[in-house]
Amino acid sequence: MRENTAWLGACRIELEETPSTNDYVKQNVHTLMHGAVVTANRQTAGKGRLGRAWQSAPGEGLALSVLLMPPTVYHTQLLPLVCALAVKSAIKTLCGAQAGIKWPNDIVLNGKKICGILCEGVLLGQTAYAVCGMGLNLLQKAEDFEREGLAHAASLLTETGGVYSPRQAVDALLPALERYYDRLLAQGFAPLLEEYRRACITLGRDVRVLSGGTECDGRAVGISASGALLVEFSHGSQPPVVREINAGEASVRGLYGYI
Ligand code: BTN
Repeated sequence: MRENTAWLGACRIELEETPSTNDYVKQNVHTLMHGAVVTANRQTAGKGRLGRAWQSAPGEGLALSVLLMPPTVYHTQLLPLVCALAVKSAIKTLCGAQAGIKWPNDIVLNGKKICGILCEGVLLGQTAYAVCGMGLNLLQKAEDFEREGLAHAASLLTETGGVYSPRQAVDALLPALERYYDRLLAQGFAPLLEEYRRACITLGRDVRVLSGGTECDGRAVGISASGALLVEFSHGSQPPVVREINAGEASVRGLYGYI
């Protein structure tokens, strides 16, 4: 079972079916510990960011949630970006492919999304935990995404031709996530920020920021020390204004497509 991590996955729960691995962790948080890992072969009500649904046929994708207890809010707010770096690294280990990160944490290969990440907070008494859920598309075919009307979704199979099982993906992901989390705690995010910036395909692009029913077009110009996207908005003859966009409050689309 656990040979390649020091603490992550010391508690492992493998479910055949559950509505959502994130919800499973939240509902069972009192019986789980920091570093617990829950996977499911099938989610019947998988959840995406900003209230969206996440679907994947049984066995075709990895659905994994991790319970983490970061020491401060600073660390917690950076988990979406840290998880994205870990998934990117795991994909490199698994198949050699260089994925990109669409801010904050969509993992993209050849312009298509192959993994989504949903980090949620949960309180147990006075203690704040984080549940980090990752859905990595592995074996789906192009027709599967077409049928679901998911024009910008893809899997490792469609993009690399490689056949990777959920177990192989877990074995690549857990050591990477442990390494990045340990680095976040030891050194803060600053040393990882440069790596994140290099991986982030959103930077330098014209983007549409969608938040609470409003849409604003701007240009993604940077990532802040706390992981926010810095977007420059220009309004006619006014000087441009740079605003921080936080991952929890908005979704960002490319002006000319998904990225
Ligand atoms: C997104 O791209 O909107 C995030 C998708 C996150 C999906 C994963 S699958 C495992 C975990 N359980 C869930 O219900 N959601 C996350």
